[in-house]
Order: sequence, then structure tokens, then C-alpha cells
Amino acid sequence: MNPVIIGNAELWLGDCLEILPTLPKVDAVIADPPYGIGYSPSGGGKGAFGKPVYKRFTGVDVVRGDDKPFDPEPFILIAPKVILWGANHYAPRLPASACWLIWDKREAESTLKFADCEMAWTNLPGQARIFRHLWNGVAKASESGEPRVHPTQKPIALMTWCLKQAGNPASVLDPFMGSGTLGIAAAQAGCAYTGIEIDAHHFETACERIENAQRQQRMFA
Ligand SMILES: C[S@@+](CC[C@H](N)C(=O)[O-])C[C@H]1O[C@@H](n2cnc3c(N)ncnc32)[C@H](O)[C@@H]1O
Repeated sequence: MNPVIIGNAELWLGDCLEILPTLPKVDAVIADPPYGIGYSPSGGGKGAFGKPVYKRFTGVDVVRGDDKPFDPEPFILIAPKVILWGANHYAPRLPASACWLIWDKREAESTLKFADCEMAWTNLPGQARIFRHLWNGVAKASESGEPRVHPTQKPIALMTWCLKQAGNPASVLDPFMGSGTLGIAAAQAGCAYTGIEIDAHHFETACERIENAQRQQRMFA
């Protein structure tokens, strides 16, 4: 199987556990894996006025692999810099680290329907860090008015911050690409990007978003 090449991005459709051993080493791995929590954006229920919670999201509404515990072991030693999101859900299977990253998704001190924050384990030197960036349905500190294209889509700004925390690497690998959010941040930062996604629908979305981001970078270069 061959990857799709878009500028300095290499995008693979398939299972990261099969593809990873065939890839060259990179400076950093930033992963947003299935956390193993059986996430569903609608929670199987209805939102306000009886409508599905994320009615504009038309793709696959569950995360592949999220129905079983996530095993971080294959990713811990994979690169000099590693950031693993959702790590509070599988912390007992990780080495100790002083440098956890916290994404505070709230407005001020309000409490959200879902978790108030997300947590990433890292092997980075230094201390724990917080990124404050509202991300609650339509109330968003960035990308406002843009439709959600993945059930657990992260802000591009969060991934830009992660690249900075990892010391602005020249190359980054994303084994659980989803809609390609890290690929967009990498395109904007001029960082070579390798992404892997198992779901064909999300893979197509990622290709499209990363191609658009690369085009915009060329236009403003
Ligand atoms: C939490 S989501 C990532 C969302 C992404 N950060 C975004 O902003 O769109 C995890 C993704 O990993 C994919 N996935 C699950 N198991 C995989 C595997 N073994 N190999 C590659 N991708 C996988 C899922 O289909 C899902 O799109």
C-alpha cells in the first residue's frame, strides 16, 4: 500500500500498528488515540429540542478502537519527543512524568457536560503546562462557524501549541490522524508530517483538510 503525498505530508490509510514498523524515525510523535472510553458524541441520546447533539456532523459518530482499553506501550519509546492525549484514561500503563499537558476547555470556571479538561502524558523535560482554549459545542475560541467533521476533533490551535511544547520538531508522526488536525498545524509550522488513519471516511476528510492547509501556506508564502 502506498501513502498519499501532499507537499511534505505523507498520509497512510490503515492500521498504525501495522504501518508504524515500516516508517522511518521522526523527531516527535503527537497522538490522540481512542481513549478506550466508548465515546459517543450524542451519548446515544438527544440534545436540546430532541435533536441529535452534533447534528451537523455527518460522518462516523463513534471512534474506531474506543471500545477497548488503549495500550500506549508501542508508542512510549517511538521518538525522542512523545505526547499522548487522553492519558488520564490509561495512566497506570504509562511511566511517571512531571510534564503532563492540560487543555482546559472551559469558559472561566463553568463546568461542561463532558470533561472540563483533557490531559496528555509526555516524555518531555520540564514541568506540567496548561493551555486554555474554549471548545464547547458552538462556543469555541477558534474555528468558530466551521462545521465539526470528526466526533473528537481537536482545535488546530491546540496542536500548534503541542508542536511548540515538543520544541518545534522538523518532523512529526500522528498515528491516529482522525480529521488531520495535527497535519494542518504541521503545514502551518512548516513541519514534515506523517499521519495514519484506519477509517476511510476520516482519511478522506484529513486529506482534504491538509491539502487546503498546504494550499493556503503556498498562497501566503
Ligand atoms: C481521537 S480520534 C483523533 C481525532 C483527531 N485528533 C482530530 O482532531 O480529528 C482517533 C482516531 O484514530 C483512528 N484509529 C483508531 N484505531 C486506529 C488504528 N489502529 N490505526 C490508525 N487509526 C486508528 C480512529 O478512526 C479515529 O479517527
